[in-house]
Amino acid sequence: MTILAIETSCDETSAAVISGNRILSSVIWSQIKDHAKWGGVVPGIARRAHEDRLPEIVSKAVSGSRLTINDINAVAVTVGPGLAPALEAGISFAKKLAVENGKPLIPANHLEGHIASLFLKRKSGTPFINHFNHLNHSVCLLSLIVSGGHTELVLTNKLGPRAKGQGITFSPHPLAFSHSILGRTLDDAAGECIDKIGRELGLGYPAGPVLERFAKDGNPEKYKFPVPMERSPRDDLNFSFSGLKTAAIQMLYRSHNIRKASRREARELTKQEICDFCASFQKTVIDALLLKLKRAMAVTGLKTVFLTGGVSANNQLRRRAGMLVRSLGGQFYATPKKFSGDNAAMIGAAAQFALNRGEAARTLKEISAIDRQPDLDFPA
Ligand code: KG4
Ligand code: ZN
Repeated sequence: MTILAIETSCDETSAAVISGNRILSSVIWSQIKDHAKWGGVVPGIARRAHEDRLPEIVSKAVSGSRLTINDINAVAVTVGPGLAPALEAGISFAKKLAVENGKPLIPANHLEGHIASLFLKRKSGTPFINHFNHLNHSVCLLSLIVSGGHTELVLTNKLGPRAKGQGITFSPHPLAFSHSILGRTLDDAAGECIDKIGRELGLGYPAGPVLERFAKDGNPEKYKFPVPMERSPRDDLNFSFSGLKTAAIQMLYRSHNIRKASRREARELTKQEICDFCASFQKTVIDALLLKLKRAMAVTGLKTVFLTGGVSANNQLRRRAGMLVRSLGGQFYATPKKFSGDNAAMIGAAAQFALNRGEAARTLKEISAIDRQPDLDFPA
């Protein structure tokens, strides 16, 4: 099964061609420059940028795969969750492409995409993560998705062969998965919190990678922040980052006599102070994530843990999560960094899950009915 996948749920315009999880081509174009001066993603700007770029990105993905549109069996597109205007741009492009070329259109779930990135393989067929490409083995997985829009602990179960007809060959993905959310953020996502603090520090947008670079040279014990939800009940697996955000902003102003009303009079932070602040803040965000990951392992008894989402590119988070999971006798896996942020290859992989649930739209009526679902949850 060869799928042309399109992802436009936020500020990455991406297209990929994948064949049975082998990535034949992947094009990811980030709109960061368009949004940077606003300090965050502006939905209307995202939509326009997706619309402008999609024709070129999709044609690059097709030519990069060395296939033609005729060789492709289906088109897949992210339908949610995400920003409504951004989703609409990808969906309307994908609908047109599918109808004009007589292909089925598969609606894909963005969150399931982050989990499906576990199964991605290189063009050569070598899996990025060996363990999970034996699809016959029983999968019962605990995933931590951490991004600018999401902070979720997810339990994934293998359902076994469940393919419904529709005349499509399902091999080599004869399995379906069910997911349930064990915990999620009650307010800000971890990446959103990082980006907001980065903005206060003048690190630009998105702040995560810059914050990580400064943190490398800083003292993580210099500033003490409260670890969010440290005292919540042991079976509470939700996250919260807005309190940490407020505490960090207050600390910044208190420590450096910075008041919002009189920014111009504020003294500049020294490079070392910025490094120490970043290191301490980053450590607290990771503490908060790992606190709940540890609890989730205890509550569920699950030992197979997968870390994914844009923030999972953070080396400290990867290192410390791996150490934690292994110290508890578990196996730890993380998405390859290149595919940790939003990308269409993972949407192609998720589309195969959707296909196995019989969700492909084949007739014009079915394709027209596909709509954006900004608040889409996991398929049960
Ligand atoms: O998954 P993603 O590309 O898009 C969303 O779905 O949000 O994640 C983007 C988020 C941003 O908040 C960004 O600051 C954060 O991931 N991020 C990082 C790092 N690289 C990206 N956070 C911490 N450390 C990093 N190295
Ligand atoms: Zn994402």
